[in-house]
Amino acid sequence: MANASQARFNAEAAAWDSNPVTVQSSALAYKSLLERIPGLNTKNPREDGLDVLEIGCGTGLLSFSLHPHIRSLIGVDTAAGMIDVFASKAASRFPATSASASSAANIAAVNVLLADPDDFLLQEAAALARQGRVERPARFDLVVSHLTLHHIPDMAAVLKTVFGCLKPGGRVALTDFEDTGPEAVYFHPEEKREGVERHGIKSEEMERLIGEAGFEDVKVERAFVLEKFVEEEGRERGFPFLICLGRRPA
Ligand SMILES: C[S@@+](CC[C@H](N)C(=O)[O-])C[C@H]1O[C@@H](n2cnc3c(N)ncnc32)[C@H](O)[C@@H]1O
Repeated sequence: MANASQARFNAEAAAWDSNPVTVQSSALAYKSLLERIPGLNTKNPREDGLDVLEIGCGTGLLSFSLHPHIRSLIGVDTAAGMIDVFASKAASRFPATSASASSAANIAAVNVLLADPDDFLLQEAAALARQGRVERPARFDLVVSHLTLHHIPDMAAVLKTVFGCLKPGGRVALTDFEDTGPEAVYFHPEEKREGVERHGIKSEEMERLIGEAGFEDVKVERAFVLEKFVEEEGRERGFPFLICLGRRPA
């Protein structure tokens, strides 16, 4: 049975892409990634681009923006409804008229709670490859995640998993809203607060946890500010977002 977070996102999936604030938030995350991850700016991404894993890909707002800049992308999400929308977008953008056409798209998502990197690569990622939807990467060059960390109960565990999913030298780049204090709770209207594990992420805590997971070149910085209407205040408020960066030692 779906938990509160899965139930909420299953219910919201079909209308997810029609919320302009959500779309804007992914567009700002996309821009902040392009500015900071050199491998996203290669001229021939299908030849020497990055193999990307996205945690909490949702309907693929960030994934499909990144797609022209990368070699492959596999998204994971715990809400089946989100994955269904992602899959229908992939099917309409890259019609699978032949196995080679669909594998050329090299973007797919799967409904799974990512826990063990080797299990994931051997099972879910391998199954996507067998279906001709992505080439199966040995490990990933980049792990991204947008607006998802605040739903994850055990941050240290997920960062260890991310580390294990990366190739040596691979990078992590995670964006989410910042816990700036009591006002951060307003990021979600009251009816959407169930299933929220934390009201934003904290810079110093993220820096420490990313370092403890084994990453080097760790940097957590403000990436952008998202303007969002707060019902309780009856006005727009700017919510700062952090980008959390690190590199698995080569
Ligand atoms: C706020 S939505 C963001 C979706 C997408 N990244 C976007 O910005 O449009 C959070 C997403 O994280 C997913 N999620 C929550 N916990 C997760 C977990 N532990 N692993 C993977 N996905 C998770 C939810 O199902 C949901 O799709």
